[in-house]
Amino acid sequence: MNQLAVITGATGGIGGAIAGALAEEGYALLLTGRQADKLSALQAELRARYGVDVDSMTADLTLPEDRAALVNAIVSQSRPLKLLVNNAGTSHFGLFVDSHDSATEELIRTNITAPICLTQSVLRQVGGTGSGLEVINIGSTFGIIGYPGFATYSATKFALRGFSQALAREYGDTDIRIRYFAPRATQTGLNSAAVNALNAELGVTMDSTETVAQAFSQFLRSNKLVCHIGWPERFFVWLNKLSPGTVGSALIKHLPVIRRHASSA
Ligand SMILES: NC(=O)c1ccc[n+]([C@@H]2O[C@H](COP(=O)([O-])OP(=O)(O)OC[C@H]3O[C@@H](n4cnc5c(N)ncnc54)[C@H](OP(=O)(O)O)[C@@H]3O)[C@@H](O)[C@H]2O)c1
Repeated sequence: MNQLAVITGATGGIGGAIAGALAEEGYALLLTGRQADKLSALQAELRARYGVDVDSMTADLTLPEDRAALVNAIVSQSRPLKLLVNNAGTSHFGLFVDSHDSATEELIRTNITAPICLTQSVLRQVGGTGSGLEVINIGSTFGIIGYPGFATYSATKFALRGFSQALAREYGDTDIRIRYFAPRATQTGLNSAAVNALNAELGVTMDSTETVAQAFSQFLRSNKLVCHIGWPERFFVWLNKLSPGTVGSALIKHLPVIRRHASSA
């Protein structure tokens, strides 16, 4: 019997590409997002292309009742859950002093509260010993390199990385695995025109979603707990751990450009 994977944020760029990669690997899928039309279209496309079972449900994961409905849908699938990909997320680029409380709260609810609470409900319902359940949290390069203009987004991804590490250790002597996969800048609707313009001016590479999905498949087959994509991002991730001041000094040189684009965001 094919194993079941649940992907949150499947209607988005990275989530849709990961869904395709998992369908290609033979997983049966339960896709979730907020846009019913996009979910149905992806469901039909993946079924037709890969011949795997694909189910879907709309859910706003910031709402406890929608998270509960998703967990009920997981429990009522004919297959036990093998993989939960906490991919749904939102971003905000701009000067911190200009951001509104409502945007801050949405970032925290979507990027931290939702994946943490969903993971807890899933572990309670289907995370018994011997389940072999795997949870992969989708982080970001900004989950280790605090980046100007993305203060709250960076904070949420730092939190998700800390959650992943602590929980992986809590389950370290079981067959349940909690892992963390961090893309760098990627060409999706998450990034506003201001972010795309900033990346173009700074020469920041933006991966295609196919590249991210390929790296995800490799990570899935590996035993690594953490994966950061891309060069030189992996180097700066390493350097930021070793010498955050050096990375900070390098970023100061970019501040005028970052501030200009952040002000226009
Ligand atoms: N793109 C990048 O540059 C980049 C870089 C590093 C990490 N990431 C991370 O990769 C993940 C996917 O991002 P993406 O670039 O693919 O973004 P995207 O194209 O904007 O997709 C975001 C997905 O999250 C879903 N979502 C947002 N808020 C939600 C909520 N309240 N409840 C349920 N679903 C919600 C969206 O659903 P609907 O569209 O249906 O509303 C959509 O499916 C995020 O965690 C992001 O932080 C992205």
